[in-house]
Amino acid sequence: MSLPPLESRPCGGRYTDLVDAIGNTPLVELRRLSPKPGVRIWAKLESQNPTGSVKDRVAKALIEDAEERGLIKPGQTILEPTSGNTGIALAMICSRKGYRLKVVMPDNVTPERTQLLKMYGAEIVYSPGDQGSNGAVAMAVEMAAADASYYMPYQYGNAANPRAHYDGTAREILDELDGQVDAFVAGLGTGGTLMGHARRFKEELGDRVKIVAAEPMQGEPVQGLRSLDDGFIPPIIDLALLDRKIFVANRDAIVWTRKLLDEEGLFAGVSSGAIARVAHRIAGEMDEGNVVFIVCDDGWKYLSSGLYTLPVDEVEQLESTLWW
Ligand SMILES: Cc1ncc(COP(=O)(O)O)c(C=O)c1O
Repeated sequence: MSLPPLESRPCGGRYTDLVDAIGNTPLVELRRLSPKPGVRIWAKLESQNPTGSVKDRVAKALIEDAEERGLIKPGQTILEPTSGNTGIALAMICSRKGYRLKVVMPDNVTPERTQLLKMYGAEIVYSPGDQGSNGAVAMAVEMAAADASYYMPYQYGNAANPRAHYDGTAREILDELDGQVDAFVAGLGTGGTLMGHARRFKEELGDRVKIVAAEPMQGEPVQGLRSLDDGFIPPIIDLALLDRKIFVANRDAIVWTRKLLDEEGLFAGVSSGAIARVAHRIAGEMDEGNVVFIVCDDGWKYLSSGLYTLPVDEVEQLESTLWW
C-alpha cells in the first residue's frame, strides 16, 4: 500500500511506554505578538508533554536518577512538596514504574490539581494555603526527617532537575533554531528551567544569549512561580547565571494569558502568561533575533477560574487569590 507523504513531520517519535514519550515538544512562532518584523518570538510548548507540563521532564529525571543511583526500589514511597505540576508528573511516572507517591501541597490550589493527582493514585497531604509553597516544603522536609522509609527527590535541591533541561529542552531549542538563540525567558519556580537552559546556552553561545527570569511581585503569587523576596532561594539556583530578573504583576500575567489565547490560539496556564509578558518586553528592546520562552503548562487546570471565557475587562477584575 502506498500512502501520500505525511505533511506534519517529524511526528515526535515512536515509544513502547508513555514515560519515554516525554520531551521533543514543538517550538511555535507567535507572529502576532512580535513587536518588530526582525524579532521573532518562539514558544516552547512544554504543555504538550504527557501530563501537560514542563515537569514531566523533571519528574522523569528525578526518578531515573534515583534508580540509577540505587536510592529507590519498586514499592517504595516517594515524598515531594509541590504546588501541582511536579506532583502530577511524578504521579503518572510513579504509577507507571510501580512506586507509591505522597505529595505535600498548599490546600488552596485549584481543584483540578487535586483531581489529577488522585486520578494517578497519589496520596495528598495538605499544608496551610497561606504559607504557599514554602509551607509545603517545610512540612515535607519535616515528614522526611521523621520517617526514613520515604525517598524525597526534592526538586528544589536536586541537580537532576536543571539537568533535565540541560540535556533535553535546551538542546531541542538549539537544534530547532540552529543555535540562533538571542534571549531565553522562563519563570522562576524551583529555578530548574532557568538554570538548565542558562548552563547549556552560555556554554554553546557564550554571553550573546541573555537569560531572563520572570518573577512574580512579592505578595502577588502566580501559580508555579515564586518571588525570591519571600525568603527562600532554592539551592539549585545560581543567581549569577541570570542576566535579568523582571517582575510581573498578577494582572499582567492574567492579561497575557488571555492574549496568548485570543491572539495566538494558545491555551496556556497563568505562569506562561507572565513569562510571555516578559518575552514581549525583551523582544521590544531588540532590533532583531530570536526570543524563546517556555509555555510551562496548558490551561485545563485553571479553567474553573473563569479566566478563559470572561470578557477581558472582567478578567482584569478577578481576585488575584484565584491564581494561587
Ligand atoms: C506552571 C509552572 N510554571 C512555571 C514553573 C517554574 O519552573 P521551574 O521550577 O523550573 O523554575 C513551574 C514549576 O513548578 C510551574 O508549575
